[in-house]
Amino acid sequence: MGKIKKRVLSGIQPSGHLHLGNYFGMMSKMVEYQQKDYLYCFIADLHALTANPDSKFLSSNTYNAVCDFLALGLDPDKTTFWVQSDVPEVTELAWILSSYTNVGLMDRSTTYKDKVSKGINPNIGLYTYPILMAADILLFKSNIVPVGKDQKQHIEMARGIAKKFNANFGNIFTIPEPDIVKETQLIPGVDGQKMSKSYNNTIPIFGEDKLIRRKVMSIKTDTTPVNQPKDKDTTLFHLYCLFADKNERLILSNKYDEPGLRYGDVKLELFEKIMDYFAPYRRERALIQTKPDDIKDILNMGAKKAKIIASEMINRVRKTVGIRFN
Ligand code: TRP
Repeated sequence: MGKIKKRVLSGIQPSGHLHLGNYFGMMSKMVEYQQKDYLYCFIADLHALTANPDSKFLSSNTYNAVCDFLALGLDPDKTTFWVQSDVPEVTELAWILSSYTNVGLMDRSTTYKDKVSKGINPNIGLYTYPILMAADILLFKSNIVPVGKDQKQHIEMARGIAKKFNANFGNIFTIPEPDIVKETQLIPGVDGQKMSKSYNNTIPIFGEDKLIRRKVMSIKTDTTPVNQPKDKDTTLFHLYCLFADKNERLILSNKYDEPGLRYGDVKLELFEKIMDYFAPYRRERALIQTKPDDIKDILNMGAKKAKIIASEMINRVRKTVGIRFN
């Protein structure tokens, strides 16, 4: 008997170019899900809006994120792939859900509290960010939501909101399960912390050669002298291993155990490996970017596919709560 296909959904904010952390964390998971399940993937431009980015920056980041995803293997024929704001049913659902969500639940959001404690002056969109995210998830009847650990609480909130709504109104929403990217899949950034845009420690995938080289050369290493063995539980070694086969790892491991290794040489080799690994994707990315009409068609098709489910679900919810009863 064949396996029952799940509905897997995830969104990513368009916050600049994709980096190695996105690729080895989320992206590779998505591409895997795409082969065996129903994947729903969108660029969360409405969520990005809560940070009030410059308007040109937001639209070009959204466009770039679309190109990045397509170049890295997201197949718009297999997957439903769209820009969040192209399916505005989600904002209506967010409004409806917000009318059934207690302020107390939002008050417990750690991402919100973190941001406020860093001194930003929060807007209402940032406050209700988890409700919009719940709407994304529930509108598409998602079974599984792959996210990073930092998003776990948001999924819990979506589950809570769905359960409460169902308890009131019957079985309307599917209760989603998170699929958290494992700690071991977290990629270190050039400073050794988790690679993240917010730490400014990323190595981009599609940046200019010079930039990628500069980033790789800036990977923080220890001050062990050349003539001594080196510690392998370190950023440079871990990053190198992502791009090396078994044999190459063994060779480098031996070099770390022996005196004479220069970190600069390892960095240069890593840079070459990164460029080789992503060369086909970079070519694809360059090609895609020259075809804005194709991108438009792809996004129109994605929005159309997404709307079929979204409109069915929003109609059901409207009826349930007593609006648009005809
Ligand atoms: N908040 C998520 C992030 O910043 C992005 C996101 C928006 C999302 N809506 C979603 C992720 C729905 C999963 C499901 O990473």
